[in-house]
Amino acid sequence: MTSIRAAITGVGGYVPEYILTNQELETMVETTDEWITSRTGIKERRILKGENQGVSVLGIAAVKDMLAKTKIDPKEIDCVIFATVTADMTFPATANIVASAVGATNAFSFDMGAACSGFLYGLSAGASYIQSGMCKKVVVIGGDKMSAIMDYTDRTTCIIFGDGAGCVLLEPTTEDVGIVDSILKSDGAGETYLHMKAGGSRMPASRETVDKRQHFVYQEGSAVFKFAVTNMADVSAQLAGRNNLNADNINWLVPHQANKRIIDATAHRVGITEDKVMMNIERYGNTTAGTIPLLLWDYEKQLKKGDNLLLAAFGGGFTWGAVYVKWAYNS
Ligand SMILES: CC(C)(COP(=O)(O)OP(=O)(O)OC[C@H]1O[C@@H](n2cnc3c(N)ncnc32)[C@H](O)[C@@H]1OP(=O)(O)O)[C@@H](O)C(=O)NCCC(=O)NCCS
Repeated sequence: MTSIRAAITGVGGYVPEYILTNQELETMVETTDEWITSRTGIKERRILKGENQGVSVLGIAAVKDMLAKTKIDPKEIDCVIFATVTADMTFPATANIVASAVGATNAFSFDMGAACSGFLYGLSAGASYIQSGMCKKVVVIGGDKMSAIMDYTDRTTCIIFGDGAGCVLLEPTTEDVGIVDSILKSDGAGETYLHMKAGGSRMPASRETVDKRQHFVYQEGSAVFKFAVTNMADVSAQLAGRNNLNADNINWLVPHQANKRIIDATAHRVGITEDKVMMNIERYGNTTAGTIPLLLWDYEKQLKKGDNLLLAAFGGGFTWGAVYVKWAYNS
């Protein structure tokens, strides 16, 4: 029997128009363009402005972009997975809102909460639905409106994050392309270093939680940095090793865009030179679940059928993982 894999057959993306530059941040907190650039590699990030604008706005635009390019009928979509930590509301799932808005009226849909690794978790789940034969078309979205949970008085955190979303379409294939292998990991001990204290069921919103600024991301940057460098590099090396991937046959490293220094360390560990590392952190910052699909969106035209892509992420939870994708089409 020919084995079935899930192939990425389309990509979409969207970033909001407003550009928050390092220069503007210099007017908001005690920082400099030089510090931000040298410590993170970020020059600017996008911000979704306006009243009542949730992350669904980003996800809907990304899926519409993919639909326009692939020309598929949204009614054929079986499943929509939205990886995000900034859902429009605690419930219903933002994926439900997006599916309805794009006309995916025959799909079941749900959100995936794995922070910066969310897109890889979603990709792996979506690929399993395809491989099992349960679904023929799955849309996996990764996106966040990080500006909604950013404390713009906290210079150690607000300089990093931005807003944006990307998505992919997964379909079955019997060719030697598609999602080949993945390793996903998590460790709840990471809660201490990276979390948002209030707004969940443990500490519901109150006047006190607002006064104490507990509805914003709390991050111990240097601790997270150490875990990220080690785990993202380890899991990438492990996945590369068991699939006989190396500097010669990996065409692209597609790393989560948290900090250029973490990306460089991961590339170094798997022996990849900078020209094979996808990077857009300087323009978008860290869009959490959005970084990896936005990279695929930015680099789509450079990808060729059969290219070996190593996707890697690390984020809140802690969560981390790597996915080996053989690219399925020429643009
Ligand atoms: C947040 C991060 C950029 C900070 O860089 P760092 O090199 O670790 O810096 P530190 O936090 O050790 O701070 C070093 C100094 O810079 C200062 N500093 C922090 N933010 C600053 C800013 N925006 N501008 C100027 N100085 C700043 C600190 O106050 C500290 O000063 P001190 O030495 O006088 O105490 C980095 O730790 C990081 O990228 N962490 C991981 C992020 C991540 O991956 N997050 C989530 C997973 S997706």
